[in-house]
Amino acid sequence: MKNAQPGILAPVPRHARYLTFGLKQAVPPQAALRALAATADGRRCVVGLGTLLLFALQEQIEGLRPFPHYKGHGVEVPSTPAALWCWLRGEDRGEIVLRAREIERILARAFETIGVIDAFKYGRGLDLTGYEDGTENPHGKKAVEAAVSSDKGSGMAGSSFVAVQQWVHDLDRFEAMPAKQQDNTVGRRKRDNKELGGAPPSAHVKRTAQESFAPEAFVLRRSMPWADATRAGLVFTAFGKSLDAFEAQLKRMTGAEDGTVDALFTFTRPVTGAYFWCPPVKRKGLDLRAIGL
Ligand code: HEM
Repeated sequence: MKNAQPGILAPVPRHARYLTFGLKQAVPPQAALRALAATADGRRCVVGLGTLLLFALQEQIEGLRPFPHYKGHGVEVPSTPAALWCWLRGEDRGEIVLRAREIERILARAFETIGVIDAFKYGRGLDLTGYEDGTENPHGKKAVEAAVSSDKGSGMAGSSFVAVQQWVHDLDRFEAMPAKQQDNTVGRRKRDNKELGGAPPSAHVKRTAQESFAPEAFVLRRSMPWADATRAGLVFTAFGKSLDAFEAQLKRMTGAEDGTVDALFTFTRPVTGAYFWCPPVKRKGLDLRAIGL
């Protein structure tokens, strides 16, 4: 898909910074958003627009909705709406810091930064538990089919939806588990990434097996580990042509379907959760025709 933001389909970069923005009171966001759209290339900076921003613009994108909040079965999945999301991607952390400053300056008149997370690639693409993340991602045409809208509606083709959650790991708790229990939590063997047929129903890959949903629920995951001085975890991101596949997986993980909670919750929990619409790109910058800009 030529006009999808290329950073969505590209492999996970070495370094990243996630910027999340809220809206400043009583400042129309159009001018700042146009300025961002003129500079963001969708490759080094993937951009997503949230429900709060669309509400302020009095525009609608069919399929964009608030992130669900789940509470029950001993787990809580929060919903933390935001106006705008930028995923800065690159190989050089210094360069990313400077680009983040530039974007915050461009947006400053109408947006305030409400979240900054620095993330990185670990090894060949591992979660900080040591398990490979992304193995069952679709590739090539199938990745495009899962992640990118082909809707012919004005300005929609090439766009994508993304679910973003910051998860905080209790690595002490995970490391205290015997190896077998760790493998049963994920449903794969850490040593060689082999899927474990005999894993319990709570195993993460049993809960989320994409072919096991009706309709099948394929997403393109581009999650990255994050860490600050005291905490660490995963920034989970799933791109989809709609939000339905992600939402079906999340619902099953929480136990809302059948009472079985995903075993990941024994050592990690989400502290944010938001949905964004990622507009297509045009020759230079983002294509915001779908919202009349
Ligand atoms: C801290 C949070 C999470 C961690 C550490 C994690 C880790 C993993 C790992 C290690 C795998 C196995 C390898 C692979 O296929 O990628 C996996 C698979 C998968 N995860 Fe997660 N995950 C997390 C959260 C989520 C969430 C919130 C969802 C969706 C709601 C999700 C959806 C999936 C899917 C769809 C698969 C592939 C299942 C299949 O078709 O085999 N994950 N995850």
